Amino acid sequence: MEYNNILIESDNNIAVLTINRPQKLNALNKETIQELHRAFSELNLDNNIKIILLTGSGTKAFVAGADISEFANFDVSQGSDLAKNGQDLLFNFIENLETPVIAAINGFALGGGLELAMACHFRVASDNAKMGLPEVSLGVIPGYGGTQRLPQLIGKGKAMELIMTANMLTANEAKEYGLVNYVVTQEELLPLCKKLASKISRNSSTAITSAIKAINANFNSNVNGYEIEIKQFGKCFGTDDFLEGTTAFLNKRKPNFQ
Ligand code: COA
Repeated sequence: MEYNNILIESDNNIAVLTINRPQKLNALNKETIQELHRAFSELNLDNNIKIILLTGSGTKAFVAGADISEFANFDVSQGSDLAKNGQDLLFNFIENLETPVIAAINGFALGGGLELAMACHFRVASDNAKMGLPEVSLGVIPGYGGTQRLPQLIGKGKAMELIMTANMLTANEAKEYGLVNYVVTQEELLPLCKKLASKISRNSSTAITSAIKAINANFNSNVNGYEIEIKQFGKCFGTDDFLEGTTAFLNKRKPNFQ
C-alpha cells in the first residue's frame, strides 16, 4: 500500500509506523490522519504483526500538533466535524485497537501530537521531547480527546494547569507525572521500545487484546469494567493460547503462542 506521509517497516512481529512530514514537524493533516487509519487497520489485521511502535521522522518532533493551516478558517460546524472525524478515525481507533501500540516520542508532542501519544497504549520518550496541549494559546481547546485522556493519565489538577497555561513539560517532568513510562536518549528510544515490544510479543496476543479491552473499560462510563473483565477473562478460556500457556506451564516448558 502506498502512503505519502507515513513509513512502515516490520521485523520480528514488530511494526514501526513513522509519521513522515519532517518539514512540517510531522503535523497531522487530513491526509496523514486518513493514512494512519488505513495503516493501523491493515497492521491490526496482519497476523504477523503482534505490536506496533508509533514515532515521528527526524530528530525534532514526534508530532507538533494538528496541521493549523488546514483549520484556521473553519466555522463551528467544520470545527466539530474535525474533532469528531479525528477521534473516530484515529484517536479512539488506536485506543481500542486489538494490537498493542507504543508511542515512541522522539521530540515535540504538542496538541494533537500529545493526544496521539496519549491514545497509544503506553508511551516512552527521548530526553529531548517536549509535551503539552497549547490549544488555548490558539483560542481553541484540545479536540482529539486531550481533555479526557490527560486527566486520566496525570490527574485533574495537573491536567487543568497544563491545558490552561499551555506550558510544555520536559521528558523528565512527563515521567514524574506518569505521562511516559521511560525517558532515554534519542539513540536508545527505538531500541528500548523494540525490547519492550519483543517481550510483549512473546506473550499471548489474544490475552493482550482482552487485557486492552478490560483496562479501557475502566475509563468508559457507559460500561461496567468488572463485567467486561469477567467476560474477557472467560473468553480467554476458549482460546488456543490458553491451552498452550497452561499446558506449557504444567509441562515446565516455555509457551509457543501462534
Ligand atoms: N501545524 C502546521 N504547521 C506546523 C505545525 C502545526 N501544528 N507545527 C509546526 N509547523 C510547521 C511550521 O509552520 C514550519 O513550517 P514552514 O517552515 O513552512 O514555515 C515548520 O513546521 C517548522 O516549524 P517552526 O515553527 O519553524 O519550528 P521551531 O523549531 O521554530 O518551533 C514549535 C517548533 C513546535 C515550537 C512550533 O513549530 C510550534 O509552536 N508549532 C505549533 C504547535 C502547536 O500549537 N500545536 C497545537 C496545534 S492545535
